[in-house]
Amino acid sequence: MKRLAAGAGQSQPIRSRRMLLMAAASAALMSVAVGCKAPRVPGPGRSNRLSSTSRGTPSGQYSVTGEATMTERQAASDAHRPQYHFLPPDKWMNDPNGLIQWDDRYHLFYQYNPEWPYLDVKYWGHAVSTDLVHWKHLPIALVPTPGGPDKDGCWTGCAVNDRGMPTLVYTGVHPEVQCIATSSDGLTTWQKYDGNPVIAKPPADLDVVGFRDPFVWREEAGWYAVIGSGIRGVGGAILLYRSDDLRRWEYLGPALVGTEFETGTMWECPNLFPIGDKFCLIVSAVPLKKVLYFIGSYAGGKFVPQSHGVIDHGGDFYAPQTMQDRKLRRLMWGWVWEGRDEAAQYAAGWAGVMSVPRVLSLGPKDELRIEPAPELELLRGEHKHLERVELGAGARAPISDMAGAAFELIARFRPGPSGRAGIKVRCSPNGAEQTLIAYDQPKQQLLVDRTRSSTYISAHLDVHEAPLSVSHDELVQVHIFVDHSVIEVCGNSTCWLTSRIYPSRADSLGVELLAENDGATFESVEFWPLKSI
Ligand code: FRU
Repeated sequence: MKRLAAGAGQSQPIRSRRMLLMAAASAALMSVAVGCKAPRVPGPGRSNRLSSTSRGTPSGQYSVTGEATMTERQAASDAHRPQYHFLPPDKWMNDPNGLIQWDDRYHLFYQYNPEWPYLDVKYWGHAVSTDLVHWKHLPIALVPTPGGPDKDGCWTGCAVNDRGMPTLVYTGVHPEVQCIATSSDGLTTWQKYDGNPVIAKPPADLDVVGFRDPFVWREEAGWYAVIGSGIRGVGGAILLYRSDDLRRWEYLGPALVGTEFETGTMWECPNLFPIGDKFCLIVSAVPLKKVLYFIGSYAGGKFVPQSHGVIDHGGDFYAPQTMQDRKLRRLMWGWVWEGRDEAAQYAAGWAGVMSVPRVLSLGPKDELRIEPAPELELLRGEHKHLERVELGAGARAPISDMAGAAFELIARFRPGPSGRAGIKVRCSPNGAEQTLIAYDQPKQQLLVDRTRSSTYISAHLDVHEAPLSVSHDELVQVHIFVDHSVIEVCGNSTCWLTSRIYPSRADSLGVELLAENDGATFESVEFWPLKSI
């Protein structure tokens, strides 16, 4: 039976699914129970259970013994390690690379540094999935070639289907040049083109800051690529190229140049693709550490922005890459970096995780809509549900059955006109640790407040705010993914905040609703524990 426990030890039965919880204007504490299972406390020794057929080594050799290395065991025992987000078995990961659907499998390559923290040299890690959720590790795809144009690292790039030949186009360093590699065994091993680099230097007439991260697509007139760059003293730029065969490239000019003051000095990881009846350009802006998008037109080699925004306001999401799958969806993953000091990262044996897959589309007002891929529902466990919970100003309502460190929660609510309302997650029983996700109605902002997320001094504690316009008669919908140290929040399918949190206590698992300054009505709260992958 569903019960509503109110105040210190008092409880009253719920008579219908429609629950009315009127809290006093004082800071009343209400507890809502929708079942009777105790929350699970995470213990040591949990692992991110990706099935692994083979393991990479710095030299690119693989053992198939399945035995975990020391750092893999160290990484697996970290209580902050996500359990349903993709990440390598250990060491450093950054940008997603080479996203492509080939036959029935999605391929996810990624910047991987198996020599971390001793050397900063990037390889391409590789994993495959048939459902976007469960991933299998494959051998390292690209390893720097001593003496070659990628001797100091195989940096970010993309994958294309060149008339049946899988082809990677990526940046070799130092200096930054563009290279290609092909595979004749179904994307498992890769042969670098003898004629690398295929673009040996930036355009002669430009004084550039950076020249990297090719993003390639096919048009009737041939192959096109945008390369991330910046024009010294001017701002971030994307440079447009054309080729007939992916090997000889002609520079066509900058497709878009920004201004240093507004959009940064250099643009990394450009993605340019059609969306609805427009085009979308995504860039990761240096030194802003922000991912910007522009919606506009693209014709005659020029991109003309009509509107712009920030892909994710949480502070810990960067360098996303997109791909179109066979369902014609535009999918996006991003690198979710760490939010704890380097010493804590080294001690953990791993750093960096991939975001959940997100689906991009164009909304009715030409706004960018970003939604979690529906395949994530495959991970859902037992559904818990609350309807119509009303909180008075200053009230908070712990929900005893919606607790954990790996879950999905969707809340639809209406804060009062002068209020701030939302959900706290990963709360310790004594309240010392908690992370607040709230909508501030007067400020029209969605926020993630991690100032009390952890008592560790190594954890980054701050508040991230995102503009989200919701009128008083509309509902705020927050879709939350919590996975140990990762928290991804999507507000009204347009506005995302991705942050890292590192609660120090094993019992920081609580979830509670709250209303500040004014009352709030929660029309529904849905909760699913999510399974490990
Ligand atoms: C973005 C980035 C890319 C570069 C890669 C190197 O995070 O700096 O511009 O190719 O990472 O790992």
